[in-house]
Amino acid sequence: MPGGISNVILKDAKKLDLSYVPKNILCRGEELKRLKIFVSTGKVLISGGIGTGKTMLARHIGGDAYVNCYMNKTEHRVLEEIIKQLKPRFNPAGLPNQKLWNEIESGKRIILDEMDGMNVDELRHFAYSISRQYEVGKKIEYIAITRNHFILEQMMNDEAIWSTFAGKAVVELKPYTREQMREILAFRAQESLDAKAYDDDIIALITDSALISPGHMRTGIDLMRNAALMAESRGDTAITPDDVREANREEWVGDLENMEKEEMLVFLAVAAACRTNAYVSMNEIVDMLRVKEEEYHIKVDETRFKKTFQALLQEDFVYQGADGFTILHYPVAALIEEIEKRMSCH
Ligand SMILES: Nc1ncnc2c1ncn2[C@@H]1O[C@H](COP(=O)(O)OP(=O)(O)O)[C@@H](O)[C@H]1O
Ligand SMILES: [Mg+2]
Repeated sequence: MPGGISNVILKDAKKLDLSYVPKNILCRGEELKRLKIFVSTGKVLISGGIGTGKTMLARHIGGDAYVNCYMNKTEHRVLEEIIKQLKPRFNPAGLPNQKLWNEIESGKRIILDEMDGMNVDELRHFAYSISRQYEVGKKIEYIAITRNHFILEQMMNDEAIWSTFAGKAVVELKPYTREQMREILAFRAQESLDAKAYDDDIIALITDSALISPGHMRTGIDLMRNAALMAESRGDTAITPDDVREANREEWVGDLENMEKEEMLVFLAVAAACRTNAYVSMNEIVDMLRVKEEEYHIKVDETRFKKTFQALLQEDFVYQGADGFTILHYPVAALIEEIEKRMSCH
């Protein structure tokens, strides 16, 4: 990286690459066991939402070739990709599919990631062809991956093709719980970050952000890496809560325009309380509100406070986690500045 940034926090950045397969795979013991049994029979379909660890588990088991079917939407492209990896010297260009199938030897294991990304007709024919290989006495093994096996079955729209392609050999990955995410993220941090560069609160903040993100664990790993990079580029030796918030930033500062002064003051109190803390208690927020009330000569009465605070929670400006209240989607230091600017304009 330019500018002479030393890697004091990110001990081992490549361990937070999306393609890295961690040494230990936590919280998926049962699924891994079933996966291995199916793999030994030659075929399995992994089904689960984004960031549930599908690609990681498939890579952990391993294959002779890996194809992303979202990037290679036709049977021909998928076959070309497989052969490129199995036989780097063979030129598949222009050859018909059948010729390409013949080049794949019996016993090879292929990982077919994001199968639902293929064109429907191509997917159907590909699944048909791969099952047909068995009939000609050739056993091409595969680990197929999809977001939702019901949808894949619908896409194939043929009971016979489906039952030979996957049938009951489906391993479903449920979304991780908060506790599981926390455990996994703590382990991934331990592998990749300097031990003095983060604490439990930082892991909790990343966990809460990942938990409510559609990217799930994928977001968690990205946030960990980006927050570390942010702290390093500042020349710091530790990740602060605001580094995580900055990495997780969403553009909603414009929405402040629609806030009334009292609501902004309550939000300011939360932000100010979170300035150096990842999480704060209700008491800390109320104490801070008293300070801000004096500063701005505004009084927010009890009922008004409750209503306003509830609205902030509902609109995701403030988040309630297991460890208290926090702000997830905006760096607090910048937010305080922004609100103070607006408060003095009014
Ligand atoms: N059980 C786990 N243990 C360690 N890391 C995990 C685990 N599950 C997911 N991850 C990590 O989370 C990220 C997302 O996982 P990935 O396999 O890409 O999800 P998917 O393919 O389902 O979208 C990857 O960086 C992966 O290494
Ligand atoms: Mg994946």
